[in-house]
Amino acid sequence: MAVKQYIDIHSHILPGVDDGPFSMEETMEMLRIAGNEGITTIIATPHYAVGSKNMTIGELINIRNQVQETAKRLGLNYDILLGNEIFYSESVLEDVILGKAMTLADSRYVLIEFGVREHFKTIYHGLQEFVLAGYAPVLAHVERYNCLVKREDLMKELIKLGSYIQMNSVSLSGRFWNTGAAYHRRLVNKGLVHFIGTDCHNAKLRTPLIENAYKAVSKHMSDTHIQQIFIENPKKILENKYI
Ligand SMILES: [Fe+2]
Repeated sequence: MAVKQYIDIHSHILPGVDDGPFSMEETMEMLRIAGNEGITTIIATPHYAVGSKNMTIGELINIRNQVQETAKRLGLNYDILLGNEIFYSESVLEDVILGKAMTLADSRYVLIEFGVREHFKTIYHGLQEFVLAGYAPVLAHVERYNCLVKREDLMKELIKLGSYIQMNSVSLSGRFWNTGAAYHRRLVNKGLVHFIGTDCHNAKLRTPLIENAYKAVSKHMSDTHIQQIFIENPKKILENKYI
């Protein structure tokens, strides 16, 4: 097995920005946890929604820089990159095009979430808008949407459309949002999931854990497939290459 250097593509790690950590101290604690897990690169993805009080990209860059400098001072070596977790609404694509909301690490990949009770049609057409505009949409935490539970056929439709699927690490190892970790592992095994992210929010309950998810799926999958999902696919985002 190759050396594990995880890239977390979904995290709420910037202090005082969204429903993530309240203080720089908590951010540092989260980074320590991430480091122990083997995470070396983190894309911070604060929530963005039309009509919400979103911080400007300039403000987020400032906070990201402060986090990076503080971490360096403490001897914590991470690459902290920026993106947004974008809550879908009709006009949100325009905000991405206008540069008000960020893609993942300045790539073509865009992390998009919907309401958990959203209709499949809205999810499909929402992701399609991004595909048609030349982006590579990544559906955030696929396991949360009611319309996609036990509907592999619909997940396949989204993938065929040109979108990618992200699942939260904890849903594989079975702590938070655990509606069937075994079923989630099967989805990964079947190739219906492209990325695993921690979706961490704090240093206590929703922490940046990924190693348990890796171990949980590794019992049932080939080394090559696991390596692809946990290491190679996220690398493609950083390199802005298609999977
Ligand atoms: Fe999130």
